[in-house]
Amino acid sequence: MESSKMAVLVCVLAFLSEPSAGYPNGKVKEACSNMVPVHGHGPQKSPKHTIEVNVTEFKPGDHVKVTLSGPPFEGFFLQAREAENLEGAAIGSFVLADKKRSQLLTCGRVKNSAVSHTSKSKKTYMNTYWIAPRDSPKSIQFLVTVVEKYSIFWVKIPGPVISQPTSPISTTTMAANATLPVPLTQLFNASECGTNKFCVRYPWSCDPKAKDCFFLSFRHDYPDSVLVEMSGPSEGYIAFALSDDQWMGGGDDAYLCISEDHHIDIKTASLVGRTYPEMDSEDALEEKTWRVADGLIQCSFRRRINLPAFRGRVNLDACYYIFLADGETSEGGGIHKHTRQPLITNGKQNVTGPPKDIGGSRSPFLIKIHGALMFVAWMTTVSIGVIVARFFKPVWPHLLLFGEEIWFQVHRGLMLVTVLLTSVSFVLPFLYRGGWSEEAGFHPYFGCTVMALAIFQPLMAGLRPPPQAPRRIIFNWLHWSTGTIVRILAVITMFLGMDLPALNLPDPWDTYLMTGFVAWHVGTDVLLEIHGYCLIRKVEVLEDDRIQILQSINSAEAQGHTFKKAVLFIYICGNMAFLIAFLMGIVQI
Ligand code: HEM
Ligand SMILES: *[C@@H]1O[C@H](CO)[C@@H](O)[C@H](O)[C@H]1NC(C)=O
Ligand SMILES: *[C@@H]1O[C@H](CO)[C@@H](O)[C@H](O)[C@H]1NC(C)=O
Ligand SMILES: *[C@@H]1O[C@H](CO)[C@@H](O)[C@H](O)[C@H]1NC(C)=O
Ligand SMILES: *[C@@H]1O[C@H](CO)[C@@H](O)[C@H](O)[C@H]1NC(C)=O
Repeated sequence: MESSKMAVLVCVLAFLSEPSAGYPNGKVKEACSNMVPVHGHGPQKSPKHTIEVNVTEFKPGDHVKVTLSGPPFEGFFLQAREAENLEGAAIGSFVLADKKRSQLLTCGRVKNSAVSHTSKSKKTYMNTYWIAPRDSPKSIQFLVTVVEKYSIFWVKIPGPVISQPTSPISTTTMAANATLPVPLTQLFNASECGTNKFCVRYPWSCDPKAKDCFFLSFRHDYPDSVLVEMSGPSEGYIAFALSDDQWMGGGDDAYLCISEDHHIDIKTASLVGRTYPEMDSEDALEEKTWRVADGLIQCSFRRRINLPAFRGRVNLDACYYIFLADGETSEGGGIHKHTRQPLITNGKQNVTGPPKDIGGSRSPFLIKIHGALMFVAWMTTVSIGVIVARFFKPVWPHLLLFGEEIWFQVHRGLMLVTVLLTSVSFVLPFLYRGGWSEEAGFHPYFGCTVMALAIFQPLMAGLRPPPQAPRRIIFNWLHWSTGTIVRILAVITMFLGMDLPALNLPDPWDTYLMTGFVAWHVGTDVLLEIHGYCLIRKVEVLEDDRIQILQSINSAEAQGHTFKKAVLFIYICGNMAFLIAFLMGIVQI
């Protein structure tokens, strides 16, 4: 035991000079680190001496009055050390209050960092001042070794702990560091989607470097936490929410990256109602980073999987519908409701489960079916049914189908299909909304009118008078005008429907396409109308000349029929092309 030999040696030397105390002159620099007087005895257990200070908090440069008191003692050795590290070096320096009975010592590299006695004369108290250094740790503790007499001493009696106040400046800096995320330098990438991270992308092939698509990923890289990355084009905010159901609200757990003055705030919120989200004041997120450039917001943070201490934060090891939304912010940093329907995943997802690479949809399934069936009904079945009835009565005059002329069967069949499709798909938005939709503008009003007329039309047709009856004229006129009105209303309804938030087909091609369809249909109508007129004229001319009779009329008519059939065929092909384009649009949204 090298040190004890040393101690013995030191003590022997000490005895030679002054047998009753180790260091009667107090020059005990050897004790700087362990504060043990080299007296060869073990220290006492319960200390009787105490240190008192006149403050509980200090700032760098402050003078703190330190008082040691207790039963009469001969020697002492006082230091301040970091409260978290009592084995560490002495901190700060002392100024003497009693220059006769106490002296300053230099421990380590800090001048005057300890105080001791000058003689072994008995004292019951000792005052000194401690000066807090500029680089002081947050809290320090005073420690003293007291020697009552040579063999009776206490080592490192703990004194009071004093701390630096968490000053307003340093708190805000720290809080600012904690809540203001640091800028991110590189763009996210999708290279590990489906292998190492769970990704939701929209469109499905979204490369977050491409700047025009939405990207959300969860990397389960630690057992208890997940790294989240989100990016998307927005001037205001991008956000995602985890929900138990397909509706936002009801306390859904939301994460928002809000752009404010060229920086991004990353916040959490609970979506209680369908209105403004309630931002949380507590911060459950770590490692926040962000980037904003060219209208693209990127943000990333880490979240623990279980956050029981935070209200509203769900556990990430369960399954949720994931919503992705974007929208605008107002001046004060408040956020507006998303401008378009948020993206929603198909089915519930476990983001900490096996990594997947999935897409989502901006439109609820029921509404998609609504739009699709209405397109089929009011673009295709109704149009073909009407054209056949108007222009193709004489084309297959003797061809019967189930005992009726074929044009009539086709017309009636297609019209019934139209009414059937309309009725089925009419119910779907009501099912989805659970009532009247306040946010759909005029579309529902036009829609209801179309539905009503679409039911009225076949009822009226069923009650039509026989062909030769004088009232038949009135029926024909009513049937035609109601049919025309309902088709015009239906086109308006479709125009209004396809830009609604719940099923927003891409602008502006949906408008071009619908305009194109109307032109295609009206063009065909006009063509067949003109053709029919010319045919009648031709037959009249032939009859007038009386050169050739019936045969020529028949051959002219036959030619006309071939033309009409060709037009019908081409019309149906074009109609189908428009329909398929719209249906593809609905599928992809
Ligand atoms: C002529 C055919 C159509 C009729 C008769 C019709 C009828 C209706 C009606 C009555 C509603 C109101 C439901 C409610 O208030 O809850 C509705 C809602 C809706 N329709 Fe149509 N519709 C037609 C075509 C379309 C088309 C072609 C689209 C889209 C491509 C479409 C998209 C929508 C959407 C998105 C809603 C729901 C709005 C919302 O609740 O947010 N509709 N439709
Ligand atoms: C503590 O004592 C020091 C030194 O006398 C003095 O400067 C300081 O103001 C005192 N603090 C309080 C709170 O009394
Ligand atoms: C806060 O950020 C400043 C620089 O912006 C830095 O000097 C300081 O160390 C940070 N504080 C914490 C607690 O991270
Ligand atoms: C994708 O980003 C990760 C860091 O998030 C990086 O380690 C990786 O090299 C990147 N991959 C590509 C192909 O850029
Ligand atoms: C989600 O995945 C995690 C990790 O694989 C698993 O512990 C947890 O049970 C899963 N949750 C559900 C609801 O499947």
